[in-house]
Amino acid sequence: MRILFVGDIFGKPGREIARRAIPALIERESLDFVIANVENAAAGFGITGDIADAILSYGVDVMTTGNHVWDKKEVLDYIPRQPKLLRPANFPAGAPGRGSYLGRTRSGEPIGVVNVMGRIFMQPLEDPFAVVLKEIDALRAKARVIVVDFHAEATSEKVAMGWHLDGRVTGVFGTHTHVQTADDRILPKGTAYLTDAGMTGPHDSIIGVTTEIALTRFLTGMPAKFESATGPGRLNGVIVTADLATGRATSLQRLSLSTADVDTLAPQTAGR
Ligand code: FE2
Repeated sequence: MRILFVGDIFGKPGREIARRAIPALIERESLDFVIANVENAAAGFGITGDIADAILSYGVDVMTTGNHVWDKKEVLDYIPRQPKLLRPANFPAGAPGRGSYLGRTRSGEPIGVVNVMGRIFMQPLEDPFAVVLKEIDALRAKARVIVVDFHAEATSEKVAMGWHLDGRVTGVFGTHTHVQTADDRILPKGTAYLTDAGMTGPHDSIIGVTTEIALTRFLTGMPAKFESATGPGRLNGVIVTADLATGRATSLQRLSLSTADVDTLAPQTAGR
């Protein structure tokens, strides 16, 4: 089974390259399932129902989120009726939506997806290390292949989650920092790990925000309203191959594709 995990889709540039690249990758890479973090898909802040529906139409099967999940208030009506849009499982009881998903791949195999959020330099949610085990246990009887999106700031917390889940899931992929790390590896008990999958969005920016605005805030310390950068997008993510019998990862490949790369990847989808 081959799974594409797409790093945080940010604003229109991110949506545009995702729209062009994902169908091409599904075909070229014989992908069975696609997961994407979408918490910054609506102009950098949150997600709406219309944008979520559009991202599903690109070939994404399940969408994960993080600290920005509630930025657009309309998501409060959408998320309870859309099981393919997850919010971190370690939000307190009473938060709308769900933190895990059980579905089937294009070839009919069961797959589970879990979304949890870190607590270092972030909102103090419930213990992600305990909550993720509960979510995995609930999925385990039905799916051998399980992928975890750990939306977190601190590298140490993310690496710890990788080791915590080694041998328990197929992959642990970090999101949130918008900068792809180069520590992709398969841990000893068969779990694919990457500290951060990176950003699918405008890379001529400061992690998605217009450079001048974010830089001015650093230079002056004065408040400034962040705006999503424009300009061409780049797709960051990872492709993991899973052994269906064991759920272990057998290969892991990082992706960082420019718009020009996507043109050559699938000329038939360019400009569509
Ligand atoms: Fe985030």
